Amino acid sequence: MGTYAISGSASGMGAATRHRLEAAGHRVIGVDLHDAEVIADLATAEGRAGAVAAVIDASGGVLDGAVSAAGVAPPTAGELIARVNYFGSQAVLEGLRPALAAGGAAQVVQFGSNSSTTTPNLPDDLIAAYLDGREADAVAIIGTVDPVFAPAVAYAGAKLAITRWCRRAAVTEPWVGEGIRLNVIAPGPVDTPLLRAGQADEVYGPLMEAFPVPVPETPDADALASWVEFLLSPAARFACGSVFYVDGGTDALMRSDDWPRSFTM
Ligand code: NAI
Repeated sequence: MGTYAISGSASGMGAATRHRLEAAGHRVIGVDLHDAEVIADLATAEGRAGAVAAVIDASGGVLDGAVSAAGVAPPTAGELIARVNYFGSQAVLEGLRPALAAGGAAQVVQFGSNSSTTTPNLPDDLIAAYLDGREADAVAIIGTVDPVFAPAVAYAGAKLAITRWCRRAAVTEPWVGEGIRLNVIAPGPVDTPLLRAGQADEVYGPLMEAFPVPVPETPDADALASWVEFLLSPAARFACGSVFYVDGGTDALMRSDDWPRSFTM
């Protein structure tokens, strides 16, 4: 049985994934602000470094997989969203990579979001700041956005950037060359405390209500955890740098013709 690190293991889809993996006999090293083996704040550089060191220590430096689910969403302030959702995720993935390589055939799932492709007008300089690792610049750019929309821009931008980072990294020697498979799941609305907090907000609640989702049922956390469990399984070994939209059809509705798409040589 394997050893898996899960950030955001105390709630929602991280917790549901934890339950599935443990029920299958695996060992889980959870990372969260509370109720986890490793208590760490992924919003800070010290918290990220401490989390990575503690997971490596607890696992003996060998992991069979990891799930990066820690996240915050609107109406949380844009600055915190940027720090946790992009910089926290990226630092944990990068920091755990040697332990994943030591596992020999590790599989990793990053939580993206369909907001990355269904939110209009995300600033290019924000995406560049995320991808270049310029945390202060990303926070400063979010500070220039209309305060009502700053959390949404920070969130969708962070999800777009972490998805792109994963796709770039997944096919490189330090990842695929070390036997690691890195993929992204991009959910739409899933019934978790994070979603409910957005729905209860007086600004974001109506915006989320207006968001078009062709499939009428909202899934629970376990439905998405089942996808994650599959992406961590041997049957998913050929998936590498893929982005799995499980979003009730919103991306297909809004971006039907944007991909797949040919390119000009
Ligand atoms: P959730 O709120 O139920 O769980 C998120 C977990 O992350 C919590 O346990 C929280 O304590 C932890 N966390 C937050 N900030 C942290 C920090 N600074 N350091 C360490 N841990 C921290 O959320 P949910 O819905 O399960 O979300 C999981 C992932 O899925 C997130 O990345 C979220 O952005 C993403 N997602 C969620 C969707 C939804 O509708 N629920 C839709 C698309 C993506």
